[in-house]
Amino acid sequence: MATNVDAAALDETPISESVHKPSKQTVDPYNVSGEVGEDGVVKAIDYNKLIDEFGTKKIDDELLARFERVTGKRPHHFLRRGIVFSHRDFELILDRYERGEPFFLYTGRGPSSDSVHVGHTIPFEFTKWLQDTFDVPLIIMMTDDEKYLFSEKKTIEEVQGYCTNNAKDIIAIGFDPAKTFIFSDFDYVGGAFYRNIVRLSKHITLNQARAIFGFNDSTNIGRIHFGSIQGATSWASSFPHIFGDDESKTVGIPALIPCAIDQDPDFRMTRDVSARLKYQGKPYAKPSLIHALFLPALQGPGTKMSASIDESAIFLKDTPNQIKNKINKYAFSGGKVSQEEHRQYGGDTSVDVAYQYLRFFLEDDEELERIKVEYESGRMLTGELKAICIRELQKYVAAFQERRAKVDDETVKLFMERRPLQWRGNPRAPLV
Ligand code: TRP
Repeated sequence: MATNVDAAALDETPISESVHKPSKQTVDPYNVSGEVGEDGVVKAIDYNKLIDEFGTKKIDDELLARFERVTGKRPHHFLRRGIVFSHRDFELILDRYERGEPFFLYTGRGPSSDSVHVGHTIPFEFTKWLQDTFDVPLIIMMTDDEKYLFSEKKTIEEVQGYCTNNAKDIIAIGFDPAKTFIFSDFDYVGGAFYRNIVRLSKHITLNQARAIFGFNDSTNIGRIHFGSIQGATSWASSFPHIFGDDESKTVGIPALIPCAIDQDPDFRMTRDVSARLKYQGKPYAKPSLIHALFLPALQGPGTKMSASIDESAIFLKDTPNQIKNKINKYAFSGGKVSQEEHRQYGGDTSVDVAYQYLRFFLEDDEELERIKVEYESGRMLTGELKAICIRELQKYVAAFQERRAKVDDETVKLFMERRPLQWRGNPRAPLV
């Protein structure tokens, strides 16, 4: 359980109640940092340790083989490379897909600023691919309330402004409007959704919230309650315009939640409560989860990119030149200090940020393997590796900007309107 709270790791204005440096690895929705060693250096995040601590399961070859059999699709390179590395009950979703039973996708974003970076797009890229693969409804929650509650200075008007702009960025990833509903908490709370929020909050004690999120006696009560809002989105009955009004039917429809691993505590809590709830004798479906690791900050694999630290991240608004300069100047290198030594011993790809980014953004497995071999043997120098990384990120950001330019206020309205969605599910199974 995470109890350390490190304001420096927040994607946010620092919060005064929570300033002290962790020495142990800390990963929860509000803090992400690797272990700090005696020397004060932050180590890479140990993801295997997280699997043990959180009690999730590693995505192994067997699960991937089953995925391919069931969907007829080769696993995404994030799955093949262990970037989407852990899960809870993903196999139950595959069972349902196989049987043609309904489920939906749910993910979200906290609109903390207009500065969206390439680390933010990772879970959304993967979610789009899951939507294309499964052909099921997707619900995207914009937690404007969370970002108001968890920052000191931002006003409600500010976070609502970020919400619209962030929604445009998310839409630009390429989601299908016929199958996607985006909502803001400030707008959508009420009705069936609020009933579920209250059901969930009734089953969480202050003690549990403190243990899960590291809250203390000075934490504002809005923050303590927020987990029930994020959690209630996992229940299909919160969306009658999509799944219908009959709760005895919707109560059994589970969500599959693709997210970065720091969001797991919210849903661990939701799963515990789901297991205890019944509607007219029918059990609530527990959400399934599929977890991604973080895109490291330019400074190294001990922390993630931060929207409030310009030199830590590549932003979706960056120009090709900014991308080039940031990577050349800041990207932590696994190369050796002198060219001579590098040629002799080779570079360390496990900590090299340029190489790590290529694992996320370069789809071609053979090309990636060639780069790894060349760099580790010392034949490829840091400058050459960075040049490849710069090229790939410039390509990614330029393609994003082109799609983003086409998203206007009307498009946002379309995605955020309460309306029925159309989807097909497994084409080999009956229509739901
Ligand atoms: N709390 C998340 C954030 O700060 C936003 C979020 C809400 C989310 N629901 C989610 C993220 C579900 C992933 C999956 O960004």
